[in-house]
Order: sequence, then C-alpha cells, then structure tokens
Amino acid sequence: MARSLAVSVARAVFDTTLGPGGLLRRRTKERPERDASADESGVVALADTPSERELAAEAPRTDADAAAPSSPPESGVSAADDDTSRTRVEAVPDARMPAMPSPEESVLAVAHELSYTWKYGSTRPDLHTLYEKSKDLMWNARTRLAWDTDVDPQAEIVSDAFNPIYGTDIWRRLDKKREVPRLRQHLASYMISNFLHGEQGALLATSQIVATAPTADAKLYAAAQVFDEARHVEAYDRYLNEKIELVYPPSPYLKSLLDTVLTDSRWDMKYLGMQILVEGVALGAFGLIHNTAKEPLIKEITHLIMQDEARHVAFGVLSLKGVYDHMPESELRDREDFIIESSKQLRDRFLAQEVWEAAGLPKKECEEAAERSEMMQMFRRLLFSKIVPNVKRLGLMTPRVRRGFEELDVIEYEDWDASA
Ligand SMILES: [Fe+2]
Ligand SMILES: [Fe+2]
Repeated sequence: MARSLAVSVARAVFDTTLGPGGLLRRRTKERPERDASADESGVVALADTPSERELAAEAPRTDADAAAPSSPPESGVSAADDDTSRTRVEAVPDARMPAMPSPEESVLAVAHELSYTWKYGSTRPDLHTLYEKSKDLMWNARTRLAWDTDVDPQAEIVSDAFNPIYGTDIWRRLDKKREVPRLRQHLASYMISNFLHGEQGALLATSQIVATAPTADAKLYAAAQVFDEARHVEAYDRYLNEKIELVYPPSPYLKSLLDTVLTDSRWDMKYLGMQILVEGVALGAFGLIHNTAKEPLIKEITHLIMQDEARHVAFGVLSLKGVYDHMPESELRDREDFIIESSKQLRDRFLAQEVWEAAGLPKKECEEAAERSEMMQMFRRLLFSKIVPNVKRLGLMTPRVRRGFEELDVIEYEDWDASA
C-alpha cells in the first residue's frame, strides 16, 4: 500500500455553548402574537442568511482545548483476522485545522485503533444481510418528507400528557393561552434537539466503527449506517429550524455520555455505548413519539428513522454476541460500570432540567413535580424496554448489572422481545 496511514484528529462537533442562554432561535417566520418574552429567557436569534452562518462557521479555532485521550488503547480488540492489520490513530494537532473553536463548535481529541482488512469477500453473512437491507431501505430526507406541512410550534405536537408537569398544581396554574403554548414549544424543541445531538453522536461513533471494525462486512455495514445517521441529522435539524424555530444545546448528560463513547479506545465500548445504550433508549423514545405525536410530519420523520435504528441496534447485538463470554473479570467490571452509569445518565436526561427556566417557569418546583410525576416515571422506565433485553442477550446481565437495573426499576424488561 503506497499511501501512508492516515493520522488525524477526530473532531467531535457539538453545539455546547450557544450564546448566553444556550438556545438558538431562528427568525424564519413572524409570529408577533406569541412569546414576546421568550428572548428574556436567553433565547438567541440566529443569523438568517446562509452567508452569515457560513461566516460564523469559518471563525478561527485553536487546539488548545483539545483534551488528551482519556485512556490508552487496550488490547480489547477481538482476535485479528489473518488478513487484517491494525494501526493506532494518534490524536495529534492537525496544522491544517484553524485555531479557536467558534461558539458553535467543540473539539474532542480521540485515539482508537484502525483496522485494515485485505479480505473483501463476505465472512459475516448476517452483517452482509444488514448491509443489503440498508441499501434497499434508504430514503431521501429532502424528497420523501412533506416539508410543506404547516406546523404550529406552540400547538400540541406531542400529547400534553407527556409533559413532565402535566396534571400537577403548576400545570393547573399555567396561563393556557400564553404559558402552555410556550412550554409546548420549549419541550418539543428540547426533546427533538437532543434527538438531533444524539444523531450527530451516532454519526461520529459509527464513522469510528468504520475505522475500527475488523471485517469487510462490518465496515461496509457501518458505512451505510453513517449515511443513515447523516439523513437523521438532516431531518431533525430541518424540522427544528423550519418548524419549531428553537434549538436547545445537548443535555449535559447526553453530551457526557457521547464524550465517553467517542473517546473510549476499546471497540466494543463504542458498540455497547452507541448501538446498544444510546440507540436502544432512542428507539424507546421514538416509539412513544411515533405512537402519540399529533403532528404528522414529526410522526413520519420518526417512523422513517425508527426503521433505520432497528437495524443499528441489530448490528450492535450481532457484533457483540459472544464477546463477553470469556472476558476477564476486571475487564467485564468496566463494562458493568459503564452500563450502570450510562443507564442512570440516560434516565436522568428525561427530567428536562434545562427547560423550565428557559420557558419562564419556576425551576425547582417544576423539577420536583417532574420527579414525582407518575407518567414520567413510566415513560422513563419504558425507555429501557430495548436496552435491558439486549444487555441480557449479550451475556452482560451479571449480578451487578441486574442490581443496577433493579435500582432503576427497569428489570421487568429483561425478557421482552427487543426486536418488536
Ligand atoms: Fe440515527
Ligand atoms: Fe442509529
């Protein structure tokens, strides 16, 4: 091979600091009758024209904030194929990258192994079938979806019954003409924004899996998934900007989980974190949204994305099957800790902590009401209906993980059919 190995820095780009209030708002439509006080809660207007946005994106950046890799690469890679070679990709400054992150970007330094394979024929028919399905079922977010649908961002896009404070004293005190519509817009934005950021995390993690996967079948499948995730990002981003007109930064819980998955050099942790945990919880959330959404465009977007995500979770399960059967106890302990801690983070995301203040409501009171809400407790448990059975299928339902799931009150799903 004449070309030298690529040495690069993976730049994970998240909207972490989006102005003083952390929110972005597009001035795409005039809705003067509504939400005149929203700007007081920190909502920041985005530049309207492409040229302004392009200029912002080209702001000079620095590598000064790039963190060192959190842990050295380990030998956690599965037994190498004879025709496969691995190379460590070092996190080093790239002179071609400009300095100083713009407020809309952040940079994460990562290190992981890169596998070549010189055997291009199929050795994993199960993964090859998934790859073929991915190609057959691709859809175009631009042409497949009814973007001319008129969406009122302050209408009941998702049933009010899923509002974390629905039915509480605070809910009853809200002004139904002004405060309830504004809260609906904030909650819809918060939820879909975190879907969007999760999709970007999946895009980045899957691109890493293309590099680390040992077989041609896995690489080709993962490349197809990268394209799936790109379309998911495109669809949610367009919906948020054109229809909801408000974008939240990632929940700190989600951002921290994505950072963990993207910086861990062990290949199985990427699959476990992204394909099993993040995508598993996303499938649970998408299912609820799809079944209960009152707005047809978000329902259709979510329906299309769910079909893809089911393949993504299946890829994780097929790839990890058998990997943990003979893993040394100390290494297995890392996986147990990761599952338990990540599950706690995924559950806590859904308290919508960032929304209350931004929507002009009393933060502490709303948080307590959301914590007590029976509907929210049920919703948060349901999100684990895919994760728990898949963890069990992978042989990771150890006594410690079982205790963790019992504490989260989600062990009831262990024998559910995760493919349903
Ligand atoms: Fe996705
Ligand atoms: Fe996915």
